Amino acid sequence: MIRKFALSALTVLALASGGAVAEEDKGGIEDVDFSFEGPFGTWDKAQLQRGLQVYTEVCAACHGLRYVPLRTLTDLGYTDAQVRAYAKQFEVYDPEIGDTRPALPRDSFPPSSLENAPDLSVMAKARAGFHGPYGTGLNQLFKGMGGPEYIVAFLTGFTGEEKEQAGTTIYENTAFPYGWTAMPQPLFGEEVEFADGSPNDVQSMAEDVAAFLMWTAEPKMMVRKKVGFVSVVFLTFFAVLLYLTNKRLWAPIKGRKTQA
Ligand code: HEC
Repeated sequence: MIRKFALSALTVLALASGGAVAEEDKGGIEDVDFSFEGPFGTWDKAQLQRGLQVYTEVCAACHGLRYVPLRTLTDLGYTDAQVRAYAKQFEVYDPEIGDTRPALPRDSFPPSSLENAPDLSVMAKARAGFHGPYGTGLNQLFKGMGGPEYIVAFLTGFTGEEKEQAGTTIYENTAFPYGWTAMPQPLFGEEVEFADGSPNDVQSMAEDVAAFLMWTAEPKMMVRKKVGFVSVVFLTFFAVLLYLTNKRLWAPIKGRKTQA
């Protein structure tokens, strides 16, 4: 009976994940093998640094990261002095002096400078690339949320078509849910020059900046995974202990012969 149930559960799972692949093909969002995915994934700090560079040199012209404190850039491997020097390029409004001044590490990144460009601080978690078939969430279990994958697909999904609508130009994009977006294609290749000589084609830059945006959205992801793993190990151990204790406690009663 139990074995039969387990078998049918497995079949449902297999069918569902098969369906999941088909559904994902339709959306055109492809899985990217990011270093931070999976239970033991970690940040690739060199990639995050490249992503910060793409953000700074390309995306920051329109988009802000107002919920990301500049001082947390030390997590990417920069020294305090480097963060201080980096912060200086942004102007922030300081209510204490009633004027703008160069940003300090204790400030956050500035907000979007273009009114209709959304803030990107938590964008990687606000979008999901993969949905399980029929809302099961199975795809997310296997491949992560797909937020950064959506950003990669969005940045590489421009077809080059554009049209006028209500006085603004909109651009065709295969990943954008409405098909046409107000964002002009930002990456064409070679916008930035990486110090480590990493490839700067559109796909590579899109992956780097998507990884960076995952970090801004969930900077403590590694701590979460570690705590989760330790908790599961502890709970497993605790469950075994409880089971044995329970057996021991009931042994004198359960073993007793009843008189019929
Ligand atoms: C010229 C200004 C401009 C630049 C440069 C720019 N964007 Fe955008 N971006 C926009 C605008 C405007 C929107 C809103 C689009 C819409 O809602 O149709 C947007 C929207 C987005 C979105 C949200 C899409 C969604 O699903 O709602 C993401 C993600 C994004 N941009 C990422 C980036 C990244 C990463 C870069 C740098 C590689 C970048 N953008 C560069 C103007 C820009």
